[in-house]
Formats: sequence, structure tokens, C-alpha cells
Amino acid sequence: MKIVQIGTGGWGKHHTRVLSQLGVLAAVCDSDVERSKEYGEKYSVNHYESLDDLISSEEFDAAFVVTPTITHTDIATKLIEAKKHVFVEKPMTYDSLEGEKLRELAQKNNVLLTCGYIERFNPAVDIVKNYVKEKKFGELIMLEFHRENRMPLHIKDVGIIYDTSVHDIDTANWLFDEMPKVVFARSGKIHHEHEDFASIMLGYGNNKTAIIFSNWITPKKVRTFSAVCTDAVIVSDFISQEIKVGKKDETEIPRNEQQEPLLLEIQSFIGAIRGKNNLIVESQQAVNVTKIAEAALLSSQKGVPIYLDLK
Ligand SMILES: NC(=O)c1ccc[n+]([C@@H]2O[C@H](COP(=O)([O-])OP(=O)(O)OC[C@H]3O[C@@H](n4cnc5c(N)ncnc54)[C@H](O)[C@@H]3O)[C@@H](O)[C@H]2O)c1
Repeated sequence: MKIVQIGTGGWGKHHTRVLSQLGVLAAVCDSDVERSKEYGEKYSVNHYESLDDLISSEEFDAAFVVTPTITHTDIATKLIEAKKHVFVEKPMTYDSLEGEKLRELAQKNNVLLTCGYIERFNPAVDIVKNYVKEKKFGELIMLEFHRENRMPLHIKDVGIIYDTSVHDIDTANWLFDEMPKVVFARSGKIHHEHEDFASIMLGYGNNKTAIIFSNWITPKKVRTFSAVCTDAVIVSDFISQEIKVGKKDETEIPRNEQQEPLLLEIQSFIGAIRGKNNLIVESQQAVNVTKIAEAALLSSQKGVPIYLDLK
């Protein structure tokens, strides 16, 4: 298995580490010459500044696209047309119609296309997903997410809904195992060119709800979620991966081992290419997340709920 990586910036440097550790990294490409050289030399693989040069010179099975969101469509299109399996970082595309086209292109070329909704691989989310599936604490009724931090200065192409809230939109869809029927949001900006705070309400069947709070204002990093079930409330932290199950008279703290979600995510994609497991994040689900982000932005601009009919 040979895998190449496009984009070796703030987030991509972790992918190069993991891909090299798994022995599958074949080449890196970054339009920043210094970066591409640095990571090529660090992991003893070929390095390129241009994707076209990489595609024409390297033999490989799959690619990771870890470049800014606005570049995802063009880069992924070239890779899929070259018949490579593609992992695109989140959000898959800025425009959901472009996402639909990518999905169709991947289907036509018979290659896998997935997206980096990494929280599905967070052991804390995985445990809660299993509780919900088994109805261990009854029916899941409400979810609440907090994802807050100081503003990351290098993100210029999108606001907080496309950059940050999308993680929790995907996790909510995953835990409820359905798509929301209605979206209502409020958002605004204080420091950033695009929105830097947002509160999003997603309405699912039978009045089940997810409320997502995201901001680039809180001076410390907060990444928590809670799940209200009919027999208990589960609270968790995405960072510590700790879970607490609150029942009427006691609090249960299930044992769980800390694991690196990125390693699990990359192993799962490689497993899917090898036919050992299914893709966990299907491209249609990633397109839906972008549609929900678009609806959240529109809702906050118009001040009205947006009704959706998603596949
Ligand atoms: N899953 C997560 O938790 C998570 C976390 C952070 C970022 N991300 C996503 O990862 C992606 C990258 O984010 P980042 O923070 O690493 O950004 P970054 O700006 O730090 O790095 C992007 C890199 O891509 C390179 N680049 C830009 N255009 C290119 C092109 N056309 N061809 C080749 N290289 C190009 C840049 O030179 C830079 O080195 C974004 O889509 C972001 O949303 C995901």
C-alpha cells in the first residue's frame, strides 16, 4: 500500500507522522517549498510542490488531502480522476454541490472517498455510540456540544461553522443515526472575517434535538458533549476521552483506554481500501454535513429555521 499526502501544515504534520509510522507514506506535496522539503526529508520520501508533478511521477494507491477547505474540490477531483482512493479533511468541500459531484466522480471511477470526521474515532464517542445502539441507558433524546477556543489565526478561508461546528454536526448525525429535518442557528463575528461564534439547533425525528455551541472567543480550549438518555445523562470530554454516566443516585465512570483518534481513523481508511472493513464516514454523509452547515449559515443570516430533506 502506497499513500501520498497533500498539505503538510498545522494538521497535516500529524498525518505524515502516522502514515510514516504505519509504513505506507510514499510521498508528500505542499505548495510551500520549504514545508514539502522538510517533511520529505524528515520521513525519507519524495516531495513535490505541485500535485500534477506528483500524480505524473509517483505510483500510489491513495491520497490524503490536508489543505485549506477552499482547495479540497480541485485537489480531490484530480486525484479521483487519476483513480486514487481519497481521504479529504473536513469539511469535504465548501460547497455541497461540489461535494455531490465529487461523490459521483468517485463512484464512477470506482474509488473510495471519505472525509475526516475524526470524532467518530474518538473512543469516548465510540462508547456512547454503542450505549445508544444497545439502548443501555434508554433512548437518546438530546445532545449538547461545546467546542470553544481562542481564534486560530491561520484559518482565513472559512468561519467557525464550516471549520469547527461541522465536527459536532457529524457526531450528532452519527449518534442519532439519522439526518436532521430542521436547522435553526444564530451566529456572529467579533474578531474574524467570517462568523466566529455560533449556536446551532438541529431537530431530528420525534422532537430529538442537538444543540451545538461553537466559538473562537473563550480563552481556553473546551471540547465537551453531553447526551441525555431516558435513564441517564452521559457527559464526556473529547480531549480527556473520559465519560461519566449520571444516574439517579450514582455516577458511573466506565473504564476506557485513551487512544489517538487520528491513528484509528487512518487505520480504518486503510482497512477499507484493503476490503477489511467498511468506510466509517461515507461521502454522502460528509456532503450532508456541508448541507447542514450551509443551512446553519443561511438560518443565522435570515433569522428563520431551514427545513431539510437529506438522504
Ligand atoms: N480533523 C480535524 O480535527 C482537523 C483539525 C485541523 C484542521 N483540519 C482540516 O485540515 C485541513 C488543513 O488545515 P490546517 O490547519 O493543517 O491548515 P494549514 O494552513 O496549517 O496547512 C495547509 C497546508 O496546505 C498547503 N497547501 C495549500 N494549498 C495547497 C495546494 N493547492 N497544494 C498543496 N499544498 C497546499 C499549505 O502550504 C499548508 O502547508 C483543513 O481542511 C482543516 O479544516 C482538520
